[in-house]
Amino acid sequence: MEIPIIKKDVIIVGAGLAGCAAARELKKSGKDVLVLTKLHPLRSHSGAAQGGVNAALSEEDDIELHMFDTVKGSDYLADQNAVELMCSKAPETIRWIEKMGAVFSRRGDGKIAQRPFGGQSKPRACFAKDRTGLTLLQTIYEQAFKEGVEFWDEWYVADILYKDGKAYGVVAYNLRDSKPAIFNAKAVMFATGGYARAFKINSNAHANTGDGLSIFARHGLPLEDMEFVQFHPSGLAGSGILISEAARGEGGKLYNSKGERFMEKYAPEKMELAPRDVVSRAIANEIREGRGVGPDNMAVYLDLTHLGEEKIMERLPELRDLALTFLGQDMVKEPIMITVTAHYSMGGIPVDIDGHVRKNKEEFVEGLYAAGECACVSVHGANRLGANSLLEALFFGRHVGESIAKDLDNISFEEAQKIEANRMLEEMEFLLTNNGKESTAQLRKELQDSMFENAGVFRTEESLIKQKEKLKELKERFKNIRIEDKSKTFNTDLQEAIELGHMLDYAAFIVEGAIARRESRGAHYREDFTKRDDENFLKHTLAYMDEEGNITLEYMDVVLGKFEPQERKY
Ligand code: FUM
Repeated sequence: MEIPIIKKDVIIVGAGLAGCAAARELKKSGKDVLVLTKLHPLRSHSGAAQGGVNAALSEEDDIELHMFDTVKGSDYLADQNAVELMCSKAPETIRWIEKMGAVFSRRGDGKIAQRPFGGQSKPRACFAKDRTGLTLLQTIYEQAFKEGVEFWDEWYVADILYKDGKAYGVVAYNLRDSKPAIFNAKAVMFATGGYARAFKINSNAHANTGDGLSIFARHGLPLEDMEFVQFHPSGLAGSGILISEAARGEGGKLYNSKGERFMEKYAPEKMELAPRDVVSRAIANEIREGRGVGPDNMAVYLDLTHLGEEKIMERLPELRDLALTFLGQDMVKEPIMITVTAHYSMGGIPVDIDGHVRKNKEEFVEGLYAAGECACVSVHGANRLGANSLLEALFFGRHVGESIAKDLDNISFEEAQKIEANRMLEEMEFLLTNNGKESTAQLRKELQDSMFENAGVFRTEESLIKQKEKLKELKERFKNIRIEDKSKTFNTDLQEAIELGHMLDYAAFIVEGAIARRESRGAHYREDFTKRDDENFLKHTLAYMDEEGNITLEYMDVVLGKFEPQERKY
């Protein structure tokens, strides 16, 4: 088979905020950059972020307070050098994207409006109604395009070219006709998004199958802090579709079936605006103790009726539409039903603050970078504050683009060989021809159901060990898979099977990290170890997978700084 080898300075995988921001910087500095994405860029999941992007902009706020809130919110697991960099650059990042055309909602005096979000001391989330991510994504994509960045949409990247601590390209196939190609470059950056799709109820796009992470892990590269998965307090009952924290930021109240405003019990000071881990656990607890509402009593009420139609239409029009479309409930007239939904991945590909990917605790991979949700830098530690994710993606996307541009002259070029596409081709061949009995949909359903049940908001040693066994079983059954569509044209059956393989791999990292972390910190809540244990676990998990799929763990120091770990109260 003819396999073209396409040569570029830099290949970026993923075209959300981080990928587009990096690509624009690189193109502006004269580099030959190509972005590969399995979607159209404007369908990237960054566009689904609704509520806001943080920056200490207003007269009453300051950068140090933003840093403190972020570190406290992270349950002290965030690296404080990374937090300082991101928070101090946040105001400039907002001005940068605004000057490029992002239209933010304004205050009466014409300044950018900011709304309160959970765990923040001040109203800090700049927003464009409740379509902030989409507004930012449209702006940065348009600007990257204007600079002449080349985007190849609907290309599925299935492997990296990697040898002895050096990366020099990727292997991909065109979704249109399944034809493979090798992309050979001095530098490769991954910006492939998060991995919450491994859970039954989640707010993530179908594309968020964590491919980038497993691709690295299959080469023996580490993943960091994978056990930390954020559950957002408000997904629409049943589907988990995001109902932005902006709803609570604008004054939304939570009630259980007894009409109690239950957050009084869990976070008497911050109430509905406590951080996400705290509110999610409160909701999950109300439900499991029998005070839920709706089908199977699996939801609670979010009441916004007191805001009135005018304010809802000015600030939250998209949310109203979502609740109407998917639940038939009009938030202007009645409380809507919400439940916790897997939302964000704090863990990911370990990188330093300039986006260099770790080979292990001490060394980095030459020519390999990551930014955005797929990366763990780590600014969110054990729990991310709302509206810090758009900031992370925009700021670190741009910053890592600059860092690659600086490094490029010192990176040697390694010629790719056609044979290096074999790993991807063999995987495709296996999936297309295997004549087993298992279906992708069934295996994925069992994965998502069991992850939600056993490795979700509440975890115990028993539930996690059960999940480890379940994953082993699913991986075994995956060998017996059969896909129905054998064609070469837009074969979504094939793509979904490849993605399921990735999900099964990285789910094992979540579970192994969670078993070993015998404490509760941020989003990782162990009912058998309910306290945070700084003596033994104020450290990052680094996990490696061997050829047989076994995972080994080691730990890495947290970068501490001016904020000493203290008890987290809200
Ligand atoms: O609730 C939201 O609008 C989500 C924002 C975020 O995850 O940062």
